[in-house]
Amino acid sequence: MQRLALRPSSEPDVDPAGHRITDAVVASFANAPDPRLRSLMTVLVRHLHDAVRETGLTMEEWRFAVDYLTRTGLTCTGTRQEFILLSDALGVSMLVDAINHEAAGATETTVLGPFYVADSAVMPLGADISRGLPGTPLLVEGTVRSSFGGPLAGASVEVWQSDADGTYDVQKDDGEGYALRAHFKTDGQGRFHFWSITPCSYPIPNDGPVGDMLAATGRHPYRPAHVHFLISAPGHAPLVTHVFAEGDPYLADDAVFGVKPSLVRPFALQHPDDAPAARRDGRAWRRLSYDFALNPTR
Ligand code: BEZ
Ligand code: FE
Repeated sequence: MQRLALRPSSEPDVDPAGHRITDAVVASFANAPDPRLRSLMTVLVRHLHDAVRETGLTMEEWRFAVDYLTRTGLTCTGTRQEFILLSDALGVSMLVDAINHEAAGATETTVLGPFYVADSAVMPLGADISRGLPGTPLLVEGTVRSSFGGPLAGASVEVWQSDADGTYDVQKDDGEGYALRAHFKTDGQGRFHFWSITPCSYPIPNDGPVGDMLAATGRHPYRPAHVHFLISAPGHAPLVTHVFAEGDPYLADDAVFGVKPSLVRPFALQHPDDAPAARRDGRAWRRLSYDFALNPTR
Protein backbone atom coordinates (compact mmCIF):
# COMPACT_ATOMS: atom_id res chain seq x y z
CA MET A 1 0.00 0.00 0.00
CA GLN A 2 1.29 3.47 -0.87
CA ARG A 3 1.82 5.78 2.13
CA LEU A 4 2.22 9.54 2.51
CA ALA A 5 5.90 10.42 2.44
CA LEU A 6 6.77 12.00 5.78
CA ARG A 7 8.94 15.12 5.51
CA PRO A 8 11.12 16.79 8.11
CA SER A 9 9.03 19.56 9.76
CA SER A 10 11.46 22.25 8.51
CA GLU A 11 10.51 21.55 4.86
CA PRO A 12 7.55 23.58 3.51
CA ASP A 13 4.37 21.70 2.52
CA VAL A 14 4.53 21.34 -1.26
CA ASP A 15 1.00 19.97 -1.51
CA PRO A 16 -1.25 22.90 -0.50
CA ALA A 17 -4.26 21.60 -2.46
CA GLY A 18 -3.97 18.18 -0.82
CA HIS A 19 -3.65 16.12 -4.02
CA ARG A 20 -1.16 13.83 -2.28
CA ILE A 21 -3.84 13.02 0.31
CA THR A 22 -6.33 12.19 -2.43
CA ASP A 23 -3.81 9.97 -4.22
CA ALA A 24 -2.93 8.19 -0.98
CA VAL A 25 -6.58 7.46 -0.18
CA VAL A 26 -7.20 6.20 -3.71
CA ALA A 27 -4.06 4.03 -3.48
CA SER A 28 -5.34 2.58 -0.20
CA PHE A 29 -8.10 0.84 -2.15
CA ALA A 30 -5.66 -0.91 -4.50
CA ASN A 31 -6.07 -4.29 -2.84
CA ALA A 32 -9.85 -4.24 -2.54
CA PRO A 33 -10.85 -7.71 -3.75
CA ASP A 34 -14.06 -6.49 -5.41
CA PRO A 35 -13.11 -4.40 -8.50
CA ARG A 36 -16.49 -2.69 -8.60
CA LEU A 37 -16.10 -1.58 -4.97
CA ARG A 38 -12.57 -0.35 -5.77
CA SER A 39 -13.91 1.68 -8.69
CA LEU A 40 -16.85 3.10 -6.70
CA MET A 41 -14.63 4.14 -3.76
CA THR A 42 -12.00 5.66 -6.06
CA VAL A 43 -14.49 7.80 -7.97
CA LEU A 44 -16.35 8.76 -4.78
CA VAL A 45 -13.16 9.88 -3.00
CA ARG A 46 -11.87 11.80 -6.04
CA HIS A 47 -15.17 13.72 -6.39
CA LEU A 48 -15.51 14.27 -2.64
CA HIS A 49 -11.96 15.62 -2.33
CA ASP A 50 -12.44 17.79 -5.44
CA ALA A 51 -15.62 19.23 -3.88
CA VAL A 52 -13.68 20.09 -0.69
CA ARG A 53 -10.93 21.74 -2.77
CA GLU A 54 -13.31 23.57 -5.12
CA THR A 55 -15.42 25.01 -2.30
CA GLY A 56 -12.50 25.70 0.04
CA LEU A 57 -14.58 23.99 2.74
CA THR A 58 -14.04 25.53 6.18
CA MET A 59 -13.71 23.52 9.41
CA GLU A 60 -17.03 24.99 10.55
CA GLU A 61 -18.78 23.90 7.34
CA TRP A 62 -17.25 20.42 7.62
CA ARG A 63 -18.59 20.14 11.21
CA PHE A 64 -22.02 21.32 10.05
CA ALA A 65 -22.06 18.70 7.27
CA VAL A 66 -21.13 15.91 9.70
CA ASP A 67 -23.84 17.07 12.12
CA TYR A 68 -26.36 17.28 9.24
CA LEU A 69 -25.67 13.69 8.17
CA THR A 70 -25.83 12.57 11.80
CA ARG A 71 -29.24 14.21 12.20
CA THR A 72 -30.39 12.64 8.93
CA GLY A 73 -29.48 9.20 10.27
CA LEU A 74 -31.11 9.86 13.63
CA THR A 75 -34.34 10.91 11.88
CA CYS A 76 -34.64 7.46 10.26
CA THR A 77 -37.06 5.04 11.92
CA GLY A 78 -38.72 1.81 10.86
CA THR A 79 -41.20 3.87 8.83
CA ARG A 80 -39.17 6.95 7.88
CA GLN A 81 -36.09 6.88 5.64
CA GLU A 82 -34.64 10.39 5.70
CA PHE A 83 -31.59 9.38 3.62
CA ILE A 84 -33.77 8.23 0.71
CA LEU A 85 -35.78 11.43 1.07
CA LEU A 86 -32.51 13.39 0.89
CA SER A 87 -31.53 11.42 -2.21
CA ASP A 88 -34.97 12.24 -3.67
CA ALA A 89 -34.75 15.94 -2.86
CA LEU A 90 -31.23 16.18 -4.35
CA GLY A 91 -32.32 14.49 -7.58
CA VAL A 92 -30.07 11.46 -6.98
CA SER A 93 -32.97 8.98 -6.93
CA MET A 94 -34.22 10.20 -10.31
CA LEU A 95 -30.69 10.18 -11.73
CA VAL A 96 -30.11 6.56 -10.67
CA ASP A 97 -33.53 5.74 -12.13
CA ALA A 98 -32.68 7.53 -15.40
CA ILE A 99 -29.40 5.72 -16.03
CA ASN A 100 -30.88 2.31 -15.16
CA HIS A 101 -34.11 2.35 -17.17
CA GLU A 102 -34.03 2.48 -20.92
CA ALA A 103 -37.47 3.72 -21.99
CA ALA A 104 -37.37 1.56 -25.20
CA GLY A 105 -41.11 1.25 -25.65
CA ALA A 106 -42.03 0.89 -21.98
CA THR A 107 -43.81 3.52 -19.90
CA GLU A 108 -41.32 5.86 -18.25
CA THR A 109 -40.43 5.31 -14.60
CA THR A 110 -40.22 7.60 -11.59
CA VAL A 111 -39.45 7.39 -7.85
CA LEU A 112 -41.15 4.84 -5.57
CA GLY A 113 -41.46 7.32 -2.69
CA PRO A 114 -41.77 6.63 1.03
CA PHE A 115 -45.49 5.87 1.17
CA TYR A 116 -45.46 2.51 -0.61
CA VAL A 117 -46.57 -0.50 1.45
CA ALA A 118 -46.42 -3.96 -0.03
CA ASP A 119 -49.42 -5.64 1.54
CA SER A 120 -52.43 -3.59 0.42
CA ALA A 121 -55.65 -5.48 -0.27
CA VAL A 122 -56.39 -7.23 -3.56
CA MET A 123 -59.66 -5.68 -4.82
CA PRO A 124 -61.97 -6.59 -7.70
CA LEU A 125 -61.96 -4.43 -10.81
CA GLY A 126 -64.31 -1.46 -10.36
CA ALA A 127 -63.83 -1.33 -6.57
CA ASP A 128 -63.69 1.99 -4.71
CA ILE A 129 -60.41 2.44 -2.80
CA SER A 130 -61.42 5.69 -1.05
CA ARG A 131 -62.88 4.04 2.10
CA GLY A 132 -65.45 6.85 2.14
CA LEU A 133 -62.91 9.69 2.42
CA PRO A 134 -64.18 13.06 1.16
CA GLY A 135 -63.17 14.34 -2.27
CA THR A 136 -64.14 14.55 -5.92
CA PRO A 137 -64.73 11.01 -7.20
CA LEU A 138 -62.06 9.85 -9.65
CA LEU A 139 -62.42 6.97 -12.10
CA VAL A 140 -59.00 5.55 -12.98
CA GLU A 141 -58.92 3.27 -16.00
CA GLY A 142 -56.36 1.91 -18.41
CA THR A 143 -54.60 -1.03 -19.93
CA VAL A 144 -51.34 -2.91 -19.43
CA ARG A 145 -49.50 -4.31 -22.44
CA SER A 146 -46.09 -5.68 -23.31
CA SER A 147 -43.90 -3.23 -25.19
CA PHE A 148 -43.16 -6.10 -27.62
CA GLY A 149 -46.62 -7.51 -27.89
CA GLY A 150 -50.23 -7.43 -26.91
CA PRO A 151 -52.26 -6.92 -23.73
CA LEU A 152 -51.06 -8.48 -20.48
CA ALA A 153 -53.94 -10.37 -18.86
CA GLY A 154 -53.66 -10.96 -15.09
CA ALA A 155 -51.00 -8.25 -14.62
CA SER A 156 -50.77 -6.90 -11.07
CA VAL A 157 -51.63 -3.20 -10.84
CA GLU A 158 -50.75 -1.79 -7.42
CA VAL A 159 -51.92 1.77 -6.75
CA TRP A 160 -51.54 4.27 -3.93
CA GLN A 161 -52.18 7.99 -3.59
CA SER A 162 -52.79 10.86 -1.18
CA ASP A 163 -56.25 12.01 -0.10
CA ALA A 164 -57.88 15.27 -1.19
CA ASP A 165 -55.81 17.16 1.41
CA GLY A 166 -52.52 15.65 0.24
CA THR A 167 -52.05 13.16 3.10
CA TYR A 168 -51.30 9.42 2.79
CA ASP A 169 -53.04 6.89 5.05
CA VAL A 170 -49.69 5.85 6.58
CA GLN A 171 -49.03 9.46 7.66
CA LYS A 172 -52.28 9.66 9.64
CA ASP A 173 -51.85 6.79 12.07
CA ASP A 174 -55.60 7.06 12.82
CA GLY A 175 -56.11 3.36 13.47
CA GLU A 176 -58.39 3.13 10.43
CA GLY A 177 -55.99 1.00 8.39
CA TYR A 178 -55.10 1.42 4.73
CA ALA A 179 -57.03 3.73 2.39
CA LEU A 180 -56.41 4.89 -1.16
CA ARG A 181 -54.20 1.90 -1.94
CA ALA A 182 -54.95 -1.54 -3.40
CA HIS A 183 -53.86 -4.26 -5.83
CA PHE A 184 -55.90 -5.06 -8.97
CA LYS A 185 -55.51 -7.74 -11.64
CA THR A 186 -56.04 -6.84 -15.28
CA ASP A 187 -58.80 -8.66 -17.17
CA GLY A 188 -58.37 -10.86 -20.25
CA GLN A 189 -57.77 -7.80 -22.46
CA GLY A 190 -55.22 -6.27 -20.06
CA ARG A 191 -57.74 -3.68 -18.79
CA PHE A 192 -58.25 -2.32 -15.28
CA HIS A 193 -60.45 0.31 -13.65
CA PHE A 194 -61.23 1.46 -10.13
CA TRP A 195 -62.81 4.36 -8.28
CA SER A 196 -60.97 6.70 -5.98
CA ILE A 197 -60.96 10.40 -5.03
CA THR A 198 -58.93 13.12 -6.71
CA PRO A 199 -55.51 13.60 -5.03
CA CYS A 200 -53.92 17.02 -4.67
CA SER A 201 -50.39 18.39 -4.56
CA TYR A 202 -48.67 17.90 -1.18
CA PRO A 203 -45.42 18.61 0.67
CA ILE A 204 -42.85 15.85 1.12
CA PRO A 205 -42.05 15.28 4.83
CA ASN A 206 -40.32 18.55 5.73
CA ASP A 207 -40.11 18.48 9.52
CA GLY A 208 -36.57 17.01 9.51
CA PRO A 209 -33.14 17.63 7.98
CA VAL A 210 -34.49 17.44 4.40
CA GLY A 211 -37.02 20.15 5.24
CA ASP A 212 -34.19 22.20 6.79
CA MET A 213 -32.20 21.89 3.56
CA LEU A 214 -35.20 22.95 1.44
CA ALA A 215 -35.88 25.98 3.67
CA ALA A 216 -32.21 27.01 3.82
CA THR A 217 -31.91 26.88 0.03
CA GLY A 218 -35.19 28.69 -0.63
CA ARG A 219 -36.97 25.64 -2.06
CA HIS A 220 -40.61 24.61 -1.52
CA PRO A 221 -41.42 20.99 -0.52
CA TYR A 222 -44.36 20.35 -2.89
CA ARG A 223 -45.04 17.53 -5.34
CA PRO A 224 -47.71 17.84 -8.04
CA ALA A 225 -50.85 15.71 -7.58
CA HIS A 226 -50.38 12.13 -8.79
CA VAL A 227 -51.43 8.50 -8.50
CA HIS A 228 -48.66 5.93 -7.91
CA PHE A 229 -48.49 2.65 -9.86
CA LEU A 230 -46.37 -0.46 -9.43
CA ILE A 231 -47.24 -2.81 -12.28
CA SER A 232 -45.85 -6.31 -12.69
CA ALA A 233 -46.43 -9.26 -14.99
CA PRO A 234 -44.54 -12.53 -15.52
CA GLY A 235 -41.62 -12.22 -17.96
CA HIS A 236 -41.60 -8.41 -17.69
CA ALA A 237 -39.64 -5.85 -15.71
CA PRO A 238 -41.79 -4.32 -12.96
CA LEU A 239 -42.79 -0.72 -13.65
CA VAL A 240 -42.66 1.88 -10.85
CA THR A 241 -44.25 5.12 -11.94
CA HIS A 242 -46.88 7.81 -11.28
CA VAL A 243 -49.45 9.56 -13.44
CA PHE A 244 -49.49 13.31 -12.74
CA ALA A 245 -52.44 15.70 -13.00
CA GLU A 246 -52.27 17.97 -16.02
CA GLY A 247 -52.41 21.66 -15.02
CA ASP A 248 -51.00 21.14 -11.52
CA PRO A 249 -49.01 24.23 -10.44
CA TYR A 250 -46.03 22.11 -9.29
CA LEU A 251 -45.46 20.11 -12.48
CA ALA A 252 -42.52 22.32 -13.47
CA ASP A 253 -40.75 22.18 -10.09
CA ASP A 254 -41.55 18.93 -8.32
CA ALA A 255 -39.56 18.83 -5.04
CA VAL A 256 -38.09 15.43 -6.03
CA PHE A 257 -37.66 16.07 -9.80
CA GLY A 258 -39.92 13.10 -10.64
CA VAL A 259 -42.11 14.56 -13.41
CA LYS A 260 -41.71 13.40 -17.01
CA PRO A 261 -43.99 14.86 -19.71
CA SER A 262 -45.11 11.38 -20.84
CA LEU A 263 -46.56 10.77 -17.35
CA VAL A 264 -48.88 13.81 -17.32
CA ARG A 265 -52.58 13.27 -18.13
CA PRO A 266 -55.82 15.17 -17.66
CA PHE A 267 -57.81 14.27 -14.56
CA ALA A 268 -60.76 15.38 -16.69
CA LEU A 269 -63.81 16.89 -14.98
CA GLN A 270 -67.06 15.08 -15.91
CA HIS A 271 -70.69 16.19 -15.70
CA PRO A 272 -72.73 14.52 -12.89
CA ASP A 273 -75.21 13.12 -15.47
CA ASP A 274 -72.40 11.26 -17.27
CA ALA A 275 -71.54 9.09 -14.25
CA PRO A 276 -72.30 5.37 -14.57
CA ALA A 277 -75.83 4.72 -13.21
CA ALA A 278 -74.60 3.00 -10.04
CA ARG A 279 -72.40 6.00 -9.19
CA ARG A 280 -74.79 8.82 -10.13
CA ASP A 281 -75.24 11.03 -7.04
CA GLY A 282 -75.45 14.52 -8.54
CA ARG A 283 -71.76 15.20 -8.04
CA ALA A 284 -69.23 16.10 -10.69
CA TRP A 285 -66.44 13.53 -11.01
CA ARG A 286 -63.12 13.12 -12.77
CA ARG A 287 -61.69 10.56 -15.14
CA LEU A 288 -58.05 9.53 -15.60
CA SER A 289 -56.99 7.13 -18.38
CA TYR A 290 -53.51 5.70 -18.92
CA ASP A 291 -52.23 2.82 -21.03
CA PHE A 292 -49.06 1.27 -19.55
CA ALA A 293 -46.39 -0.73 -21.38
CA LEU A 294 -43.89 -3.10 -19.69
CA ASN A 295 -40.58 -4.23 -21.16
CA PRO A 296 -40.00 -7.99 -21.38
CA THR A 297 -37.04 -9.23 -19.34
CA ARG A 298 -34.22 -10.53 -21.50
C1 BEZ B 1 -44.30 10.40 -3.08
O1 BEZ B 1 -44.69 10.68 -4.18
O2 BEZ B 1 -45.04 9.74 -2.39
C2 BEZ B 1 -42.94 10.86 -2.63
C3 BEZ B 1 -41.85 10.61 -3.42
C4 BEZ B 1 -40.59 11.03 -3.01
C5 BEZ B 1 -40.44 11.69 -1.80
C6 BEZ B 1 -41.56 11.95 -1.01
C7 BEZ B 1 -42.82 11.55 -1.43
FE1 FE C 1 -46.79 10.39 -3.80
